[in-house]
This record gives sequence, C-alpha cells and structure tokens, in this order.
Amino acid sequence: MRVGIVGAGRMGREIAAVAASRGHEVAWNLGSKENSGGSGLTAALLARADVVFEFTSPAAAVENLIALGGQGARVVCGTTGWSKDLPRVTEAFVQGGGTLVHAANFSVGVRHFFELATRAARLFGPAGYAAYLVEEHHGGKRDAPSGTARTVGTIFEMETGRALPITSVRSGTIPGTHRLVFESPEDEVEIIHRARSRAGFARGAVWAAEKIAGRTGVYEFGDLLKEAVEGA
Ligand SMILES: NC(=O)c1ccc[n+]([C@@H]2O[C@H](COP(=O)([O-])OP(=O)(O)OC[C@H]3O[C@@H](n4cnc5c(N)ncnc54)[C@H](OP(=O)(O)O)[C@@H]3O)[C@@H](O)[C@H]2O)c1
Repeated sequence: MRVGIVGAGRMGREIAAVAASRGHEVAWNLGSKENSGGSGLTAALLARADVVFEFTSPAAAVENLIALGGQGARVVCGTTGWSKDLPRVTEAFVQGGGTLVHAANFSVGVRHFFELATRAARLFGPAGYAAYLVEEHHGGKRDAPSGTARTVGTIFEMETGRALPITSVRSGTIPGTHRLVFESPEDEVEIIHRARSRAGFARGAVWAAEKIAGRTGVYEFGDLLKEAVEGA
C-alpha cells in the first residue's frame, strides 16, 4: 500500500517504520506547518496514498478527519481526545464514501486488558470492592485522562453503575501504563497494562489499515479484532 501520514510526531515516525517493515511505501508525511485547519489535505496529495494515518492532536484531528472523510479517503486515526465529535466525523465519512478505523488505543494487549476490566468489574463490583485507575504517560501527552483510561471508566460504569476514579500522571518518557485496582479492607487486586514502546500501537494501526482495504464505513479497532478472532 502507499501510505500517507498526517502528524510527523512520535507515532507518525513509529508508523512509518512499521509500515516500511511490512513492505508498504511511505508516500508522504504532512506536518502541522503545511496543514493549518486541514488545508494541506488536498485531492492531489490524497491521490498519492491508498491509506492515510492520522496521529496528530485532539485540537487538529476533527478538522483533518472531516477533510479526509469528505474526500472519500481510507483513514486510520489514533489521535485521542475527540470522541465527542465522532457523530460529525462519521457523517463526513458516510457522505464522502470513505473508510475510517479509529481507536484510542491500537495495542492488542490493551484490547485484552479491556476484556479483563469488564470481567473484573463484574466480579469485584458486587463484592463491595472499591476501585480506581491510575494512568501514567510521558510529559508530552496533551490529553488527560488518556482515551484508554476513559474507556475503562465507561466499562466500569456500565458494569457497576458507579463512576471510576481516575488519576493521571504525566512525566518523562513513559509510553503508557494503566493500573486498575480493586481493594477491600482485606486485600487488593491489580490489573496492569504497561506498554514497553510505541511499536505495539503502530503495529495495530498498520494491521487495521491492511484489514480495511476494499471496505467503506466507520469501524472501531475492536470491531476488526473481534472479526479476526471470531473468523479464525
Ligand atoms: N491510538 C493509539 O494507539 C495511540 C498511541 C499513542 C498515541 N496516540 C495519540 O496519537 C496522537 C499523537 O501522539 P504522538 O505521541 O505522536 O504526539 P506528538 O509526538 O506530539 O505528535 C503529534 C504531531 O502531530 C502534529 N500536528 C498537530 N496538528 C497537526 C495538523 N493539523 N496537521 C499535521 N500535523 C499536525 C504535531 O506537529 P507540531 O508539533 O508542529 O504541532 C506533531 O508533530 C495523540 O493524540 C496521542 O494521544 C494514540
């Protein structure tokens, strides 16, 4: 595939490396200077890529996605912090005939962590355990809590009817750690996901791009994974 990347940051660089290692051609990489308000996403540029990765910032993602969706592009978006605008973005992709896979976290390990969180909330919630989540990321991460932490919070609330207290730490170079804790006066149980690098996110994003070839519509990464597991 010919790959375009919007966002020349840490994830953009990691995706370029993983895509190249899987035999894809990185055709272009668009930075913020050439793309104010999504203006750099021209038809001529999009014609040079089969799939576009959008890993920028919460402030830029929605304009980029609407520009991409309106032109019928095939897109993998991992930018976090824009989920309230998903209906608007979905409409742009449906009307433009494009394809979008989005996820706050493209790590397969994190998706399994969500499954464990669901099961744990079902077990420990009714047993009277208190629960909280601590998430830690590098100092450059702009949104807090992380999209992954918010997803665990939603899962917990759906399963128990209670809000999950979440604490965010931003420091140094931590790629991403999520620690879900259940505690009672007698004991404590922790479920931890610790990313070792950004490579796992990039690998999941490139896998998603390969999976959506030839499709249209809007998908969440978990939908594609579920399909792959059930179809196996
Ligand atoms: N879904 C996942 O698995 C996953 C994993 C890791 C990170 N993320 C998310 O992915 C996003 C990027 O993370 P990162 O670590 O790569 O951040 P980063 O290192 O700060 O990179 C973001 C890049 O996007 C650029 N940018 C901002 N607005 C832009 C625009 N309108 N057009 C083109 N480029 C633009 C920035 O340029 P300037 O510096 O010039 O503004 C920067 O180079 C964040 O939202 C992060 O939370 C998701």
